[in-house]
Amino acid sequence: MKHLLSMEHLSTKEIYDLITTASEYKSGKRELPQFSTKYVSNLFFENSTRTKCSFEVAEQKLGLNLVNFETSTSSVQKGESLYDTCKTLESVGADLLVIRHPQIAYYKELDHLNIPIANAGDGSGQHPTQSLLDIMTIYEEYGSFKNLNVLICGDIKNSRVARSNYQSLTALGANVMFSSPKEWVDDTLEAPYVNIDDVINQVDIVMLLRVQHERHSIAGEANFAAEEYHQQYGLTQARYDKLKEEAIVMHPAPVNRDVEIKSELVEAPKSRIFKQMENGMYLRMAVVSALLQ
Ligand code: CP
Repeated sequence: MKHLLSMEHLSTKEIYDLITTASEYKSGKRELPQFSTKYVSNLFFENSTRTKCSFEVAEQKLGLNLVNFETSTSSVQKGESLYDTCKTLESVGADLLVIRHPQIAYYKELDHLNIPIANAGDGSGQHPTQSLLDIMTIYEEYGSFKNLNVLICGDIKNSRVARSNYQSLTALGANVMFSSPKEWVDDTLEAPYVNIDDVINQVDIVMLLRVQHERHSIAGEANFAAEEYHQQYGLTQARYDKLKEEAIVMHPAPVNRDVEIKSELVEAPKSRIFKQMENGMYLRMAVVSALLQ
């Protein structure tokens, strides 16, 4: 694998290979490779807790040397471009760049780099490592994707997680449905839009998305009060109680408690939200090792 940029670029075989490697790292079945002569830099031009920290832990477990980069103290503040920043890191010896950036498909500007890129999120474009850790979590639960009913709820239009998961879960054989306020419908994705209350008792996975206030500056976009959104589109206690016995609840996090999901349900028995984060570290180890081998 040369780069990890978008779920569209991954074959189902590559997806299975990555989640198998991650699972084997997790179980201890596969020995961790060590890359003690390699250097990695994590460039986060948007805020992150889970993705940044889990990449850092994954890289350190794989013996990599971390080149510290903070946008606030870098020459980005002097106007240096993304390409020149990345080319500089390549020139000083970085072997891998992990990048989160607000611009959709920012990586198209980086064609001339000679080192691999792991996309840690590009605006509302793609979030491939989130999708892969979600797929790993679903696979742990069900052992297959064929005919699983997946309901993705919330801000579909602005969500890189919805886009990545729609593409990958559909390719793997799952039935993906969306539930969303009309303002957040994404016409470019072909999944059906449903009323959450019509399907909540039939789904195998309900995946809630964060309401992304930072991407709602466009006039005309939905602007709900928290309680109104929770009652119309969120996972309330009443909806949780209607879920099938074996159904699971997912959320990429960070969670707006009592908006997308009732606060008490974040760690309820059907919730896999913290399991997703745990799997994220192993999955990112698999991605880093695949890019460096
Ligand atoms: N899920 C996710 O990408 O979280 P962070 O923004 O904290 O990395």
